[in-house]
Amino acid sequence: MAKREKVAVKICVGTACFVQGGADLLLYDEFLDPIVLANCEIEGVSCLGKCKEAGSKEGAPFVQIGDVVHGDMTEKKFCDLVAEAVHA
Ligand code: FES
Repeated sequence: MAKREKVAVKICVGTACFVQGGADLLLYDEFLDPIVLANCEIEGVSCLGKCKEAGSKEGAPFVQIGDVVHGDMTEKKFCDLVAEAVHA
């Protein structure tokens, strides 16, 4: 069986995201399932640009999983979306 690539996960740590929960998401190794954790590459990145988009339905904190940026990120939503991406 071919080895799968790890899912790329970027947690925004720009100011808007950091103060609205992004900082808590950086503690992902405390709440993410170990199997999911082993199958993704997570990094903190500077502003993803989403916080500056006018009329966006979602707010900070933002996280990019694969090619998609998700907002209003919570620990629960983060775990669900990352697990979904890993198991896809
Ligand atoms: S600070 Fe996170 S998208 Fe701008």
